[in-house]
Amino acid sequence: MVTIGTPLSPSATRVMLLGAGELGKEVIIELQRLGVEVIAVDRYPNAPGHQVAHRWHAIDMSNPDELRQIIETEQPALIVPEIEAIATEVLADIESEGLARVVPTARAVQLTMNREGIRRLAAEQLQLPTSAYAFAESEDEIRNAIEAGIGFPCLIKPVMSSSGKGQSLLRCTDDIETAWAVAQSGGRVSQNRVIVEGFVDFDYEITLLTVRANNTAGEVETSFCQPIGHQQQNGDYVQSWQPQPMSELALQRSWEIAQKVTDSLGGLGLFGVELFIKGDQVWFSEVSPRPHDTGLVTLVTQHQSEFALHARAILGLPVNTDLNMPGASAVIYGRHDAAGIKFKHVEQALAMPGTDIRLFGKPLAYANRRMGVALTYALAGENLDTLRARAVASAALIEPMVE
Ligand SMILES: Nc1ncnc2c1ncn2[C@@H]1O[C@H](COP(=O)(O)OP(=O)(O)OP(=O)(O)O)[C@@H](O)[C@H]1O
Ligand SMILES: [Mg+2]
Repeated sequence: MVTIGTPLSPSATRVMLLGAGELGKEVIIELQRLGVEVIAVDRYPNAPGHQVAHRWHAIDMSNPDELRQIIETEQPALIVPEIEAIATEVLADIESEGLARVVPTARAVQLTMNREGIRRLAAEQLQLPTSAYAFAESEDEIRNAIEAGIGFPCLIKPVMSSSGKGQSLLRCTDDIETAWAVAQSGGRVSQNRVIVEGFVDFDYEITLLTVRANNTAGEVETSFCQPIGHQQQNGDYVQSWQPQPMSELALQRSWEIAQKVTDSLGGLGLFGVELFIKGDQVWFSEVSPRPHDTGLVTLVTQHQSEFALHARAILGLPVNTDLNMPGASAVIYGRHDAAGIKFKHVEQALAMPGTDIRLFGKPLAYANRRMGVALTYALAGENLDTLRARAVASAALIEPMVE
């Protein structure tokens, strides 16, 4: 039986978000709608999620002492990691001491924050198809791995990094030195371990949002959203759309892979399973045990967005992953390095039919920082090309400016 208490009273159902960016902000809004008491934690004050939570804290979440202290002070029932750069050993302790439930599980959070953990699980234990790969800790080891079979082109990524940071595409031996240096500077923590990945020449890539939630009988059931297609630039998503058309076989295989990997990670919640597709062939790439940036499109395409699905699933409530309407999203960048920017022409962007936006409210803009997203859904009979073009056009209309 699930009960939800009254916020700010002794009966409150308290949830702590670790990371309060734009994705966390939407999860918090969904939790707020269900009468949950939400505490948002991020590394800087006034992060997007701080602005919609009951309470907020700014701490260094990779510092075990600071993290432990904030959890002991707030005593949440649920801890929801939104980012990877967290002292996950603290989460494992908290979970094993029974102080709080970690979403989806402390083990899932630990495995997925390191490319080595999730890759070895997927490829070696679960036997899922992935790119060729090896791990290396020097230029020589990289060279050996490439010569031993990975070949060119290939990618080098720090084992702990996200959003494309520290990644390089290598075409020949001469590229190794630079790639190694880039990886050293782009990793999240100072360590020099990288993954060398064979380049997968895919036709397209998808995020398969996969939800583990209780059904009405109280058993965990897995359900899938329609596949989300997306376009990446320098390791960050610029556009996404749903549904991505796929062959029946590729879709079946995608479901199987997502089912296996999320079964293994366990717990309750939504996962973003990243897959590469070529014809009927499917490769597992990686998985987020939380809402995925490309899934922002579900704010206009599904009855329950990925954020609503995550909120419901983690509370033990039933979910519905049905698509309502095809749609697309396009990222709005800061275009300036400045604090307190303004956005012009919002009314023009919103005057386009079927269009909506989110401005995240980040205190500080960078030229390439994601500051908002334009969303659009299908009006009668519109195809994906039309939707993608409209999302991009409405994002382009919105003009960040410095006074
Ligand atoms: N082995 C590969 N072959 C071909 N393309 C790849 C490969 N690995 C990554 N890419 C491309 O680079 C993008 C980013 O890679 P990946 O998801 O591993 O990085 P990330 O830093 O975890 O990014 P994010 O945090 O945004 O998901 C992928 O979405 C894909 O477009
Ligand atoms: Mg990725």
